[in-house]
Amino acid sequence: MKLLPVIFLLALTSATSALDNGLMRTPPMGWMSWERFRCNIDCENDPKNCISENLFRDMADRLAEDGWKEMGYDHVMIDDCWSSMLRDKDGRLQPDPQRFPGGIAKLARYLHDRGLKLGIYGDLGTHTCGGYPGTTLDKIDTDAQTFASWGVDFLKLDGCYSNEEEQQKGYPLMSKALNATGRPIGYSCSWPAYRGGLPPSVNYTLLGEICNLWRNYDDIQDSWDSVQDITDWFFDNQEILQPEAGPGRWNDPDMLIIGNFGLSVDQSRSQMALWAIMAAPLIMSNNLRTLSSEARAILQNGAAIAINQDPMGVQGRRLLQERSHIEVYWRPLSQSASALVFLSRRQDMPYRYHTSLAKLNYTAGSYEAYDVFTGETLSGLSATTEFTVSINPSGVVMWYVYPKMHYEHPQDDGRYPYIRQKYRMSSSLRFHKPRVVPPSLL
Ligand code: GLA
Repeated sequence: MKLLPVIFLLALTSATSALDNGLMRTPPMGWMSWERFRCNIDCENDPKNCISENLFRDMADRLAEDGWKEMGYDHVMIDDCWSSMLRDKDGRLQPDPQRFPGGIAKLARYLHDRGLKLGIYGDLGTHTCGGYPGTTLDKIDTDAQTFASWGVDFLKLDGCYSNEEEQQKGYPLMSKALNATGRPIGYSCSWPAYRGGLPPSVNYTLLGEICNLWRNYDDIQDSWDSVQDITDWFFDNQEILQPEAGPGRWNDPDMLIIGNFGLSVDQSRSQMALWAIMAAPLIMSNNLRTLSSEARAILQNGAAIAINQDPMGVQGRRLLQERSHIEVYWRPLSQSASALVFLSRRQDMPYRYHTSLAKLNYTAGSYEAYDVFTGETLSGLSATTEFTVSINPSGVVMWYVYPKMHYEHPQDDGRYPYIRQKYRMSSSLRFHKPRVVPPSLL
């Protein structure tokens, strides 16, 4: 009898509300064309790399056949430069007939048949950033209906060539128009990136109600400088941005560039670790046909993905910026677990960083730590145990930390419960007896 009002109250007071389309309760994952393939439309001379239905079919094949889909990478997202320069006679967007001869609906079917989802790109404004037809306010309903009729599952709506007032009207209108199609379509809004990314110009409460994710800041480029610049902006503004994220509503620091030309192996691990801490969408933009085994291992790291996809959906924070140029990042996870990232911004040699969980605000207790990139387990940690991690220049050490628990059934040690269910981690990684590594040996 008393229960209903309590539940109602809980619902009212529960965290920030999100776009009510039930989608993207964990950060979306997949592949997108822009960072790696840009606006290459030269299919005559560069048929493998131009923006065409072949590119997206190829990437869908790779996602479906190379273990990506099972890890959660299930979206193939078309970015700019897919459309014809002209709308059709009924005013609808249409794909470039030479590069997409089968049309988008057929491409969507190809993906759906493989258990994948299709994303498409539009731009609120007169033109897309690449100069293709944009979606002006009068075209919002038409374009939403066109995308839905093709079987599209996700829309990135960019904001080139529109002003503040048009954006204020257009982004909420597109949200309504997508909902009105009756097709569940994930909605990414580039709106904040065009308004400086911060209040008062950006209203994150509203964004959370109308969009599933949003680009807050500049485009990523294929370099470590770019990854650092983006990381700094997001964590310098964490007081504002961190509380805005949650299930169904995510900050988007842009694509993963792992597997391209700009990052070393250490820097690739750093991007993966930081994006996992940020609860960022894991949207790769790379060439899945020719990925190195190192890049693939980093992108398919089950523990890093599980941390990113934690069902609680709380974005992490930067805890410390040391004078030694070591930084510490932390994210609370479900089942009383957490993730820690130790990042080195140094340029000399591996740095031995000394600390303890207590110094990182952990409460008294007994913990174990699983090293995400080496697969080692560190047991017997109390909050006050001093330990040392060795961090490579522009690299990370990433830990999944969980309280040590006692179990009634000795065969079930109960560790990594969520990771174990959802992500295919090698059995040695799942069930191996913790290797006792005395902190002093690290
Ligand atoms: C903008 C966006 C990019 C990409 C390009 C396409 O720069 O921020 O992510 O979509 O437009 O032209």
